[in-house]
Amino acid sequence: MDKLIIRGQKRLKGEVTISGAKNAALGVLPAALLLGDVCTIENVPDILDIAILKRIMESLGVQFENIDETTLRIDTRKVNSYMATTPDMHKLRGSYYLMGALLGRFKRAVVTFPGGCNFGVRPIDQHIKGFESLGAKVEIEHGYIKLTASKLIGASIYLDVVSVGATVNIMLAAVRAEGLTTIENAAKEPHIVDIANFLNAMGADIKGAGTDIIRIRGVKSLKGSLIHSIIPDQIEAGTFMIAAAATKGDVLVKNVIPKHMESLTAKLMEMNVKIEEFDESIRIYVKDRLTKVNIKTLPYPGFPTDLQPPAAILLLRADGISTITEGIFENRFQYIEELKRMGANIRVEGRMAVIEGGSKLTGAPIKATDLRAGAACVIAGLIAEGETEISNVHYIDRGYENMVEKLRRLGADIKRISGSPG
Ligand code: EPZ
Repeated sequence: MDKLIIRGQKRLKGEVTISGAKNAALGVLPAALLLGDVCTIENVPDILDIAILKRIMESLGVQFENIDETTLRIDTRKVNSYMATTPDMHKLRGSYYLMGALLGRFKRAVVTFPGGCNFGVRPIDQHIKGFESLGAKVEIEHGYIKLTASKLIGASIYLDVVSVGATVNIMLAAVRAEGLTTIENAAKEPHIVDIANFLNAMGADIKGAGTDIIRIRGVKSLKGSLIHSIIPDQIEAGTFMIAAAATKGDVLVKNVIPKHMESLTAKLMEMNVKIEEFDESIRIYVKDRLTKVNIKTLPYPGFPTDLQPPAAILLLRADGISTITEGIFENRFQYIEELKRMGANIRVEGRMAVIEGGSKLTGAPIKATDLRAGAACVIAGLIAEGETEISNVHYIDRGYENMVEKLRRLGADIKRISGSPG
């Protein structure tokens, strides 16, 4: 397994270009299954989760062609199966979108339970509630989810919890239902809007994506040969913004949508980090001491839970005691045990981490416990004194394209060493 070796205390300086959004691409690719035609997707991130999803879709008969490094041509005319049951299904959370896409295309789907980062139980009861409201019968047996519907009928669905995955999955199935579907208490993340825009470009009739009420009027047919460009990754952008601030550097983060970053930008400014916003980029630099803040993660437009681990590292650089409250997942602080090996002064009290700033971090061998915890380990290595060795790098590969190269270009002393196979 590969490892990262970081020699810390280098200020990040220069420019970094953000890749396409992982959590948008994970919904857009399955959405193409509804088409039964050809389409072109631009700005697709080159990350492990997407490579795995493509492999799963190829097992269904989807044909992919790489037009260039980030542009994919997808042909779903020859899709000949509604059974997504390869072992890959369990390797990522985003495989759950095949439920809505296959149900919408074939009125049938058999899928393996999704996988995903291990921070607490990741239920899919809201997804199932949505599919059943649309008229599907859902059975769970032998680790498979079997969905069948003689036809899909539009319905009013109120999500008991604001769920990104359930919002998108219900949208995917509702596009081909008869009549009007309303999703209330819907999630509003930018990637949901991106997926809805792609569906509308192929002829769907979706209104209200990005608000908490989404209306989908079913359509009889969809048209292909469209081109869609994935939005920039809000979480990758936030990770680099935090790394720039934590190393007290000066970085221009390019290919971002500043509006998507507002909850983080506001917090950084509250901490005395300097921010300059342009149309498609944000400059982050630090001149003065950083002040403590309190953060609570919430559904968009609140502070994203996926930036909670990276933000914890930044708060170690602030004067005084800061707190982070995890408002979305019940157990997303496992990475803190690893940081304590570096001298981090953090205690966890239920859903709140209490972070004592000013504690010096020293390099140590640590391991990534999930994707965004891996990003936190990297940032900790960037600010620590001495050398940090990070294992389980495959977690980071799931969601960050060329992270090592991007950091090296910003002046980080970081390299990847190939570990023992297996
Ligand atoms: C998506 O996960 C993202 N993954 C996650 O990003 C992200 O952390 C999360 O949304 C929140 O923004 C993808 O898009 C592939 P949820 P998802 O359904 O859909 C509960 C990353 O690092 N819930 O919005 O699984 C759930 O337990 C990953 O890129 C139910 O109770 O998140 C959680 O407490 C990590 N029942 C809350 O809702 C359900 O049926 C929000 O989960 C579904 C969810």
